[in-house]
Amino acid sequence: MNGIEVTQVTAVLALGSIALFVVGLKRLSKVRTAREGNALLAAGMLLAVIITLIEVGRVDYRWIVTGLVVGSAFGILIVVRAQATKMPQIVARFNGFGGASSALVALSLFWGRVVEGDGGQTTAAVLGGAAAATLVLSVLIGAITFSGSVFAELKLAGTVSGSPSIPVRGPLMGLLALGGLALGAVGTFAIDDDTVAAALVLGLFAAALLIGIILVVPIGGADMPVVISLLNSLSGLAAAATGFALTNNLLIMAGTIVGAAGLILTQIMCKAMNRSLLNVLVGGYGGDGGGAPEDQEYGHVVSGDAEEAAMVLEAAESVVIVPGYGLAVARAQHAVHEVAKALTGRGVQVRFGIHPVAGRMPGHMNVVLAEAEVPYEQLVEMDQINPDFSQTDVVIVVGANDVVNPAASSDPTGPIGGMPILEVGRARRVFVIKRSLSPGYAGIKNELFEREHTVMLFGDAKEVLDALATELADN
Ligand code: TAP
Repeated sequence: MNGIEVTQVTAVLALGSIALFVVGLKRLSKVRTAREGNALLAAGMLLAVIITLIEVGRVDYRWIVTGLVVGSAFGILIVVRAQATKMPQIVARFNGFGGASSALVALSLFWGRVVEGDGGQTTAAVLGGAAAATLVLSVLIGAITFSGSVFAELKLAGTVSGSPSIPVRGPLMGLLALGGLALGAVGTFAIDDDTVAAALVLGLFAAALLIGIILVVPIGGADMPVVISLLNSLSGLAAAATGFALTNNLLIMAGTIVGAAGLILTQIMCKAMNRSLLNVLVGGYGGDGGGAPEDQEYGHVVSGDAEEAAMVLEAAESVVIVPGYGLAVARAQHAVHEVAKALTGRGVQVRFGIHPVAGRMPGHMNVVLAEAEVPYEQLVEMDQINPDFSQTDVVIVVGANDVVNPAASSDPTGPIGGMPILEVGRARRVFVIKRSLSPGYAGIKNELFEREHTVMLFGDAKEVLDALATELADN
C-alpha cells in the first residue's frame, strides 16, 4: 500500500471505530443492551489500536506485544479480583491510568522530538504552535487526572480518611494552574535550551500533580463517585489534547466522546443528589461512608421477623422492593429474586424501585439485579414508582438507607437536604432489612425506621431474605 492508500484505509476504519464507540455508548444506557454495548466499545478500541499500528507503520512490535501482554495481564487480574462493591475504586484506577497515559505520551513526544531530537529549537518550532500548546494541556490535564484519581481511590478504600479543609484552596489551585501553564508555555514556546525546557515542562507536570491532590483530598467519601465521574471526563479531555499534539484524529474523537460522556454522567449524578457540581467540588460534605454517631438516638422502633413479614406479604396485592448498597454488600440479589418469584407465583404484583444513586456507582442496583436475572420489566425508576407508593401494600427496603430517608425533605439544610428520594413512607406497610440502626453513607438518622407502619427486620440481607423465601414457600 502506498501512503495515500494507507490514509484512505485508516480514515474509513477510523469512521468504523467511532461508529462502534457511539453505538456502544448508546447501548450502554439501557440495562437490556448494556452487555452488547460493552462488547461494541471493546471492538471499537481494538480497531483503534489496529488503525494506530497501521498509521505508525514500521514499529518495533516487540514493545507493542510486551505492552499488550503486560497491560492485558493487569486488566484481567484487576477484573477477576473485582468485587461489585469496589467498582468505583476500579473505575478511579482506570481513569488514573488514562490520565497518566495521556500525560506520558505527551511527555514522550516532547522528549523524543525536542529534547533528544534536533537541538537548539523550541518545541513550538519543532512540532508547530498548536501541537506545542495542546502538549502543555495534555500534561496538565493528564497529571491532574492521575493524582486526583489515585487519591480518589485511596479515599474510597479508606486509606486516606476525613475531609480536611485546605486553607485558600481555590486560589492555591488557581495559582498552581496558572504557574504550571506559564512554565509549560515558556518551556515549549520560548526556550530553545533542551535542559531548561525539560526542567520547565517537568515543573508543569509537578504543579498539575499537586492540583489533583488538592482538588480531591477535601472532598468527602460520599461525593467521591461524582468526582470520579468528573475525572473520567478529564481523562477524555487529556486524551483529546494528546490527539491534537500527535495529530491523531481518532484519539481526538474518542477523547472528546469520553469527555462529553463523563460530563453528562457527572451532571446526572449531581441532579439525582440535588447538588451542584461546584457544591461537590467545594468539599466537606457528608462522611466517609461510616456515618457520624451524632443524632442517632431512636425513639420507638418496631422489629419483627421473617415469619411475621411473610404473613403480611401473603395478604398483599402489590409489593415494591427497594434495593440499596447493603443488598450489594450482602450479595443478596439471588435471595431477593427468590422472594420476588415466590410472591409473583402467588399472584402478587412485584416491582423493584430503583433510585439513581442507590449503591455506590451509577447503575449499581441494575447491575447487581441483572446478575441475578431479575426481569428488566420489574425494574422501575424513581420518578415512575414514586406516585404508586400510596397504593402499594408493602414495601421491602433491602439494605437501603439514604435513598429512602425522609430527612431529604424534612431537613432541607441537612447532608441530603433536597435530594429526591423513594417515598416509601407512603406505602401501607414498610419492612426494612438491615443489620442495625446504623446510618447510611450520608451519616444521618433515618426517621423512617421509627414510623408507626415501619417494621425493622434486623439481620444480614441475604439471611433475612433466605428466611423470608423459605417462609413463603412453606405456607
Ligand atoms: P446507604 O445509605 O449507604 O445505606 C446502606 C445501608 O445498608 C446501611 O445503612 C447498612 O446498614 C446496610 N447494610 C450494609 N451491609 C448490609 C448487609 N450485609 N445486610 C443488610 N444491610 C446492610 O445506601 P443507599 O440507600 O443505597 O444510598 C446510597 C448512598 O451513596 C447515598 O447517600 C448516595 O448519595 C451515595 N452515593 C451514591 C452514588 C451512586 S452513583 N450510587 C454516588 C455518590 C454517592 P447496617 O449497617 O445497619 O446493616
